[in-house]
Amino acid sequence: MADKIAAIGAGLVGCGWAIVFARAGFQVALYDESAEALRRAPTHLANCLKDLEAAGLIESAAAVLGRITVENALADTVRGARYVQESIFEDVQVKHRLFGVLDALLDEHTLAGSSTSAIPPSQLTEDLKTRERWLVAHPVNPPYLVPLVELVPAPWTATATVDAVRALMTQAGQAPVLVKRELEGFVLNRLQGALLNEAWKLVEEDYISVEDLDKTISDGLGLRWSFMGPFETIDLNAPNGVRDYAERFGPFYHRVANSRPTPQPAWSETLISQVESVRREQLPAEQLDSRRAWRDRRLMALVRHKHEMNGGPA
Ligand SMILES: NC(=O)c1ccc[n+]([C@@H]2O[C@H](COP(=O)([O-])OP(=O)(O)OC[C@H]3O[C@@H](n4cnc5c(N)ncnc54)[C@H](O)[C@@H]3O)[C@@H](O)[C@H]2O)c1
Repeated sequence: MADKIAAIGAGLVGCGWAIVFARAGFQVALYDESAEALRRAPTHLANCLKDLEAAGLIESAAAVLGRITVENALADTVRGARYVQESIFEDVQVKHRLFGVLDALLDEHTLAGSSTSAIPPSQLTEDLKTRERWLVAHPVNPPYLVPLVELVPAPWTATATVDAVRALMTQAGQAPVLVKRELEGFVLNRLQGALLNEAWKLVEEDYISVEDLDKTISDGLGLRWSFMGPFETIDLNAPNGVRDYAERFGPFYHRVANSRPTPQPAWSETLISQVESVRREQLPAEQLDSRRAWRDRRLMALVRHKHEMNGGPA
């Protein structure tokens, strides 16, 4: 069936993918090796879809849910699928074992992507006979609200695979970007890492409080970043565009880049405890879940605004 997608792993991310594809009209077969995960999935999916419907981001939660079937057997899950999205534990051995099984199960034209956050695809697919049809398709959580997907091919991934998965992701309403060759952390987490490393340092050196550091992003840089990336930002921040910006501020950023010794020490236990105690004062551990739900509702409002802005899905 050309419109069938297989989602393997029914945790946070696998359920998120099931929503992405079912929302776009695909039939989704969702599989997990854990009976408990499969038992929980329908309620979790129904709750997420109810929120999306209430936010006006889907027309009918029931219709989307009706396109997702929960499967007990891996072979049934992938049979006839156009694409398989794997979202199981982040463990090279566990993923590699599953990929070996899938290698024998995939139909002739089925393509496959891994949700891995950090494992280079060549470590997972080198010995597969179907390896030309595999790549990493790294989502951001939850993928039905944050559309970016990093596509990362292994050296042997066929160009046709990359093109087809990119087209499929676009059709499903996601925003795919191509990481041309594999590197640790891909691109999104390298950018996040650069910012986090500086954030921990600035707090450790007592230049700023944890609260004010967060505010610098939420009331500062982050506002622009939800609409444009850093290159477009600087292009607009000097009268004559990006070259003008680079000429004015390049020497300053160069001094900043060289103001840190290399190699950098790891985040220390003392520092982590210091930041944790501030965060837990602001948000007790038992409120983490409700704050996550609050975040997702704010994201829904932002996504709705972006759809209006771009003339995207209602
Ligand atoms: N959580 C995030 O923010 C996030 C973001 C992007 C990517 N990812 C990646 O997505 C993947 C899944 O992450 P998650 O947060 O959903 O984890 P999770 O622990 O919520 O879910 C993983 C699920 O995989 C199932 N599973 C484990 N081994 C299996 C197997 N061999 N066959 C079938 N099912 C199996 C488990 O039972 C579990 O339900 C990981 O590779 C992770 O790095 C996570």
